[in-house]
Amino acid sequence: MSNRLEGKVALVTGGGSGLGAAICRRFAEEGAVVFPADVNAGAAQAVHAECERLVRGGAALIGDVADSLSVRKMFAGFAERQTRLDVLVNNAGIGLTGKRASSYVALMARQAQEMATRGRIETHCDTTIDLGDEDWDRMLRIHLYGAFYCSREALRIMKEQGSGATSNGKIINMGSIMGTSGGAGAVDYCAAKAGIHGFTRALAREVASRNIQVNAIAPGFVDTPLLGDMHAAYPLIAAATPLGRLGKPDDVAWAAVYLASCEADWVTGQVLSPNGGWHMSQ
Ligand SMILES: NC(=O)c1ccc[n+]([C@@H]2O[C@H](COP(=O)([O-])OP(=O)(O)OC[C@H]3O[C@@H](n4cnc5c(N)ncnc54)[C@H](O)[C@@H]3O)[C@@H](O)[C@H]2O)c1
Repeated sequence: MSNRLEGKVALVTGGGSGLGAAICRRFAEEGAVVFPADVNAGAAQAVHAECERLVRGGAALIGDVADSLSVRKMFAGFAERQTRLDVLVNNAGIGLTGKRASSYVALMARQAQEMATRGRIETHCDTTIDLGDEDWDRMLRIHLYGAFYCSREALRIMKEQGSGATSNGKIINMGSIMGTSGGAGAVDYCAAKAGIHGFTRALAREVASRNIQVNAIAPGFVDTPLLGDMHAAYPLIAAATPLGRLGKPDDVAWAAVYLASCEADWVTGQVLSPNGGWHMSQ
């Protein structure tokens, strides 16, 4: 613990699991008061209990980031406890789930085998042809609309926080290497993440005059429940990663600590990508 975030108040969406939970834990270790916000109440409460052992205050907030009314209520719950918000992390998200994830893994393996044995791919990926309106909508709502809804509420608090020499607030959006490189079978996820990168840059310019910084983190493949249905692909992913392994949640959480801290007061509109070398620029 080095108190890099001492005195700061942070709200982390999707704080009940994976990257969000790791970010909450590292933020608390660094001295921040933490509000894990999640649609999963029990998970958010458990993470908050861990954080509160390190720094008193904060609370678990329950809400669905895909629903603007739910986000408004969540921030109303926050405002009952705090008047200041230093850091918002827009992290809540979903991946490819269930049948779609496992059939994607099987497809990757089959295509690799076809390339190796026949020199061409004969089994095609038809995700976009088969993707339903609801699946497309849900993916964009949670990731992209969620980042917008939460940023809108957070900025209403941050804009009142004066114009001191140090930052008046930080927004950190969870993008992905998929938002830059693309990924077959994941058009909805990749579109949402690319949207988040664009949203980050535009908002960074918009609120720079208020001395509020907006950045994104674009992780590579990290072993969390979000990748749960893709376990069979881990050896393939590790082999395609120069550093030879998938990420751990803390590999991403430390990037969030940096962007949330005063060390990053002159950093805005950036996409920081801890990814083991899988992708070398954003
Ligand atoms: N794991 C990876 O490899 C990876 C890579 C790049 C980016 N990401 C991104 O990181 C973020 C976190 O992913 P993770 O790997 O920690 O996943 P995770 O499944 O472990 O955690 C996601 C959390 O978000 C919450 N959540 C989902 N929908 C929500 C909603 N509508 N409202 C509020 N909370 C909601 C879940 O309940 C869960 O606690 C996501 O945005 C994901 O796209 C993950």
